[in-house]
Amino acid sequence: MELKLVYATELTGSLDGMVEVEDVEKLIEKPKYEEQGDLAFPCFGLAKLMKKAPNVIAKELAPKIQHPLFEKVVADGPYVNCFLNKQSVSNEMLQTILNEDMNYGSLTIGNKKSIVLDFSSPNIAKPFSMGHLRSTVIGNSLANIVEKCGYQAVRVNHLGDWGTQFGKLIVAYQLWGDANKVKAEPIKELLALYVKFHEEAEKQPALEDEARRWFKKLEDGNEEALALWKWFREESLQEFSKIYQLLDVHFDSYQGEAFYNDKMDQTIELLNEKGLLSSSEGAEVVDLHEYDLPPCLIKKSDGATLYATRDVTAAFYRQQQYQFEKTIYVVGQEQSLHFKQVFLVLEKAGFEWAKQLVHIPFGFILKDGKKMSTRKGKIVLLEEVITEAIELAHRNIEAKNPNLANKAEIAKMVGVGSIIFHDLKNERQNNVEFSLEEMLKFEGTTGPYVQYTHARACSILRKAAVSSQTAGLTGLQDSASWAVVKLLMEFPNVIEKSFYQYEPSQVAKYLLDLSQEFNKYYSRVKILTTDEELESRLALVKSVTIVLKEGLRLLGVHAPKEM
Ligand code: ARG
Repeated sequence: MELKLVYATELTGSLDGMVEVEDVEKLIEKPKYEEQGDLAFPCFGLAKLMKKAPNVIAKELAPKIQHPLFEKVVADGPYVNCFLNKQSVSNEMLQTILNEDMNYGSLTIGNKKSIVLDFSSPNIAKPFSMGHLRSTVIGNSLANIVEKCGYQAVRVNHLGDWGTQFGKLIVAYQLWGDANKVKAEPIKELLALYVKFHEEAEKQPALEDEARRWFKKLEDGNEEALALWKWFREESLQEFSKIYQLLDVHFDSYQGEAFYNDKMDQTIELLNEKGLLSSSEGAEVVDLHEYDLPPCLIKKSDGATLYATRDVTAAFYRQQQYQFEKTIYVVGQEQSLHFKQVFLVLEKAGFEWAKQLVHIPFGFILKDGKKMSTRKGKIVLLEEVITEAIELAHRNIEAKNPNLANKAEIAKMVGVGSIIFHDLKNERQNNVEFSLEEMLKFEGTTGPYVQYTHARACSILRKAAVSSQTAGLTGLQDSASWAVVKLLMEFPNVIEKSFYQYEPSQVAKYLLDLSQEFNKYYSRVKILTTDEELESRLALVKSVTIVLKEGLRLLGVHAPKEM
């Protein structure tokens, strides 16, 4: 139910078709103060057309407008203010939500066109970093939001599975490696080998040449090199998939950098045909000085291709494969220049769709104000962090609700949910301070708080043994329920905003507001008293569970019925 549209239609009718409904709808705003009603129409724009002062127009217009969903319409200076009828509006609203259930808030903006989301994308044989965690969580939520808006989401994990580091790894493994150790703890062991390679190479520089030779062999398809690379990749991927399982994140494709190896010549040929390549110190580059940017390096003097070449190639491939309406790259802000260059290379090559590529950057995760790093000595293994969150959640639940069935399963939902929510409640460009105690609190602006509110609402429904039927609803007129209803009404708008701004934080903040408003309602109103509004109050509670659960799902967070 679009109340703005209803109001605009009524206004237009009273203006004898002098203006278009859509134009009127665009002008309708929310009044600043509650006492001014729920919707306001400013008459300034009509003054010229009607040759009257705005406040005169408002005075004439207001009494003409009547509708069952409006309680009253009054002139307030140059504005025509509309007060909604709480009872009829809440009644319609609750019926809509109960009928649409999890589809409430779904939009048709996307028209089933596809959007590719390139996210997570860790590097093989290296730890899954905090930056990759942010990319995973934000990308996954954006994929859910995009689907909710009627698009088809294509979730792509553009693995960092190619590059000179594999030459080093192969050499290090041949010299000092142990297959069993790699199998037991692939990332830890491969990282240790990588670090050892660098230490030893300082003493024996010849090792670097050896590594280059092995990377060349790998690029030329040498079987021994390929077998090792494949094995490193598989073992690493298995370890990453433990994290994806914990987070409950899934991909449609794991086609990473290596996938494009045999497709790069075509890219270079194409750029050459378009006359975009120039040589610079033996390397092939695309000049971008007209954009005030450094040239984009496409091919090194030794013939090797680069990260950017792979991204240009990936964009071609995906355009052919998915005919995407958009591609969203969820990657840290430190790669902004890279994406600017890649997009401009494609634009210069004359591809219209290059304008549909967007880089969605995000800030760092901080610990005590410092960037949290997974590099070298102070490596924090992400899996350990997540496991710790789950353990802490388990302890909290044990203290609060010791008789709960399947505590372990719920602790996982709460522990993981708390990490995800903590990340997504901040605008993505901000840095996030990482504190397990903070994010696991059952009160305050946390995921567990929203989950707990949802569980509390579910328990009210259990007590009432309610059948969620929509017959016999009367609607509600008290101000406590109205505050909740108004928020429920906002859900579709919140989804739309979060989509256009690529901001899951819009959804997260909304869920906090709704939880807070519902808890206020719960403390003020005796929900389960038997009277003629009981069914409507239960419908309100049920609607809250629907919207909280669906909102959390959009963030990638589960909503247990009990906790
Ligand atoms: N593997 C890269 C890194 O860890 C991120 C890849 C992002 N996606 C892309 N299409 N470049 O820095």
